[in-house]
Amino acid sequence: MTISIRTARTDDAAAIAAVAVASIREVATNYYDTAQIDAWSSAFTPQTVQSAFVTGITWVAADGGEVVGFAKWEPPTEFDLLYVHPSAARRGVAHALSEAVERAAREAGLFHLEATVSKSARKVFDAFGYELIEDFIRTVDGQQFAVARMRKELR
Ligand SMILES: CC(C)(COP(=O)(O)OP(=O)(O)OC[C@H]1O[C@@H](n2cnc3c(N)ncnc32)[C@H](O)[C@@H]1OP(=O)(O)O)[C@@H](O)C(=O)NCCC(=O)NCCS
Repeated sequence: MTISIRTARTDDAAAIAAVAVASIREVATNYYDTAQIDAWSSAFTPQTVQSAFVTGITWVAADGGEVVGFAKWEPPTEFDLLYVHPSAARRGVAHALSEAVERAAREAGLFHLEATVSKSARKVFDAFGYELIEDFIRTVDGQQFAVARMRKELR
């Protein structure tokens, strides 16, 4: 697997939505119940992904021509989205995407990033050097999710 990181194009929207749905349904399902997983995954369609391109910067991780992960930075300080297809899990794809986000934030002169992190990604953000600000409940489509607000100082 040779991963390259690039900024997303409009025609990546369907592949990005498919990565999000697959990762939620296969990875996050270990942490949330069926109704929560249905609500979360239904937020990602090619249309909603394209709408999200309007703000911030989205990067994709590609293996050859295939999109296997994506991340979004919402300036100034929000690390907004991070998803990796289960077929590419634990190979450093999320790490490479997080480095792209951090590099861009540093280049913009920022000193920290924050993220709202699901239970399924908590250990990953721990590994990236994020620290807990607070645990809280986020409501999405009528479903309540235990999540964590986390912060990383950029040095
Ligand atoms: C969270 C997610 C993006 C991680 O993607 P990934 O490419 O597998 O992560 P990486 O390979 O870059 O892992 C980086 C480090 O995080 C930690 N990590 C990753 N997955 C982990 C797991 N399941 N359990 C514990 N630690 C984990 C490890 O320290 C890992 O480094 P290592 O493999 O050298 O030990 C992916 O599992 C995913 O899409 N999950 C479902 C959706 C989700 O929760 N997204 C985040 C929304 S806030």
